[in-house]
Amino acid sequence: MKRVMTYGTFDLLHYGHINLLKRSKDLGDYLIVGLSSDEFNALKGKKSVMSFEERKEILQNIRYVDKVVKESNWEQKVEDIKKYNIDVFVIGDDWEGKFDFLKEYCEVVYLPRTKSISTTLLKKILSEQESA
Ligand code: CTP
Repeated sequence: MKRVMTYGTFDLLHYGHINLLKRSKDLGDYLIVGLSSDEFNALKGKKSVMSFEERKEILQNIRYVDKVVKESNWEQKVEDIKKYNIDVFVIGDDWEGKFDFLKEYCEVVYLPRTKSISTTLLKKILSEQESA
């Protein structure tokens, strides 16, 4: 069984996320998502609209996702790859080259991002509506 892992915040889940998850699952048989905790997001200077538990609940109900684990720090990826016997690490190409150091442990795939949609854009639209 080929095991695939990806990471992200997946706030205000959108079509770009689904597209990424579908293509990730297509690379193997079992997909694990490392979901950024609220504390880790704060460390990165990000604040999600939906809480960790809400984001997790949504991801767990997507057919392509087999398991969701919490991502709490940058160092965790190597540990996770070993712990869950990951064959393929996958992430959107906004991270192109950034995770090449993981090639020592598994295959690393950067997938093209879906155009014209992002959580940042959705947040911007929401805040514009609020202030209108
Ligand atoms: N992703 C994608 N296409 C998009 C948006 C995201 O393929 N249009 C991918 C990212 O490359 C990443 C995963 O989905 O591998 C989770 O992305 P995340 O950062 O949680 O979502 P974004 O919408 O990119 O959020 P933000 O705007 O806050 O960066």
